[in-house]
Amino acid sequence: MKKLSIEKVLAFMVCTIAFTSNLNAQIRSIDPPIMGWSSWNTYRVNINEDLIKKQADAMVSQGLKEVGYSFVNVDDGFFGYRDEKGVLHAHAERFPNGMKPIADYIHSLGLKAGLYSEAGANTCGSIWDADKNGIGVGLYGYERQDADLFFNQWGFDFIKIDYCGAGQQLELDEKERYTTIVNAIREVCDRNISLNICRWAYPGTWVKDLARSWRISGDIAPTWGHIKHIVSKNLYLSAFAGNGHYNDMDMLEVGRGLKPEEDETHFGLWCIMSSPLMIGCDLTTIPEATLKLLTNPELIALNQDPLGLQAYVAQYENGGYTLVKDIKQKRGKVRAVALYNPTDTICSFRIPLSTLELSGKTKIRDLVLRKDERPVQDFIMFDVVPHGVKILRVEGEKRIEPIRYEAEQAYLNLFDDLGKRKRGVTFMPSSYASGKMTVINLGGQEDNYAQWDNVYSKKGGQYLMDIYYVPIKKGRSSIKEREINDYRMEISVNGNMFCLKDFESEESKGIRRIQHTINLKKGYNTIKIGSRYTWVPDLDCFTLTPKK
Ligand code: GLA
Repeated sequence: MKKLSIEKVLAFMVCTIAFTSNLNAQIRSIDPPIMGWSSWNTYRVNINEDLIKKQADAMVSQGLKEVGYSFVNVDDGFFGYRDEKGVLHAHAERFPNGMKPIADYIHSLGLKAGLYSEAGANTCGSIWDADKNGIGVGLYGYERQDADLFFNQWGFDFIKIDYCGAGQQLELDEKERYTTIVNAIREVCDRNISLNICRWAYPGTWVKDLARSWRISGDIAPTWGHIKHIVSKNLYLSAFAGNGHYNDMDMLEVGRGLKPEEDETHFGLWCIMSSPLMIGCDLTTIPEATLKLLTNPELIALNQDPLGLQAYVAQYENGGYTLVKDIKQKRGKVRAVALYNPTDTICSFRIPLSTLELSGKTKIRDLVLRKDERPVQDFIMFDVVPHGVKILRVEGEKRIEPIRYEAEQAYLNLFDDLGKRKRGVTFMPSSYASGKMTVINLGGQEDNYAQWDNVYSKKGGQYLMDIYYVPIKKGRSSIKEREINDYRMEISVNGNMFCLKDFESEESKGIRRIQHTINLKKGYNTIKIGSRYTWVPDLDCFTLTPKK
């Protein structure tokens, strides 16, 4: 055998170390969703120094810190008043020593401290909880001064910024308002503050540049209706999360009166959908079963997975949703899968492995029960109880190429859920569509497109692209220039654009198909569908079949 010179060995070692640390840096660069406890769900504005310290103590003594919970967040209720110099003071009775000792105490336990404020002048508590101290204490006009106080003087690490006064009273524009606040924070504070935007609806794609997480729904409460509603709001938002930025499904109501299977569904889905995990119950009296669920390491691992992905809907049948995401390795053979039954009757799931892009003998582990199930071939089949979930780790023999790309899985560049725009791009259920969902109102301007970044081809080459759309209804639009013949699809594949038109317009129901041959490169491809000057027909999905 040829001897390797010492230089070559050294060079190899240097390369390996560089490569490994590069990889580690890459993995580390995706911050997982934050985990911790927040005061609001149990105590609303009735909080005080002693209470917060006891909850912080319990986070450690109950073993929650050990499994990753690290933030202790003081929500609304700590406000005192703003003095004539604009300086904010804490509530004199509830926090007689001010807020710095709170942050210090939390830090002394090796935990992180979170705080709450409002984008407008008056807090939500002042509007909804008759908290008079919430008047005039919001960030409006005091952005830099409060940022300096919260983060530099008091030492907090996280802030949730609400929108009651800003929206209901001042009617400010969300993007502008939050940009002003975040810029002020970034100017004043050189630490990395974890920021949560609380606008109770997905606010728009700009949010990723400003916040680590953002609420996508109104307030949670410990009822099944609330859990189901919040999940429904987040089912199609996976493309808007990622790279350390997350859709926030709100603080957990686990351990606050839901049925055991509902608690499992609640926690399991928050984990697989990569929501921040902020416990909302009293940690000092937490029941054994709740603690067991909240500390389940296999569920937490899904939430804190280094890829930082949110599961997307791969199938919707019989009222049951199958959600899936890659874990550990992108396009690897191991995936996390949730079978979620929001209905009031048992749901029988039958999921072809190909839908999960897997094949061969496939191992399955139930992550809630923490037990292995029998391996399967071809299909995964389970009956799931009403309001229940199965959270599975699924490991196939092979990872296969995706075939179908749903419109509702795409990144929709101009999407928001604020309900302020006329005919804005949005989701529209259709019983004829493949996932029972379509995307409507794409096009009309250059920015209004759908984008799929994860179009994958193992070898590259020619593919037949079948695009499924809803036939166009004549006269649907009140705007007269949007006539049927104006409908177009401008499709770009890795930046190469072609245009499709002449769509079917029968009044019959159903989904139509239009075909085109495209070229994919080996690996990941980006496909965009939009139309600069006209509407795009309502989109169901597209499929890609390699050409022989
Ligand atoms: C809003 C938020 C809640 C909570 C309250 C506080 O309603 O959505 O999470 O912070 O304000 O008043």
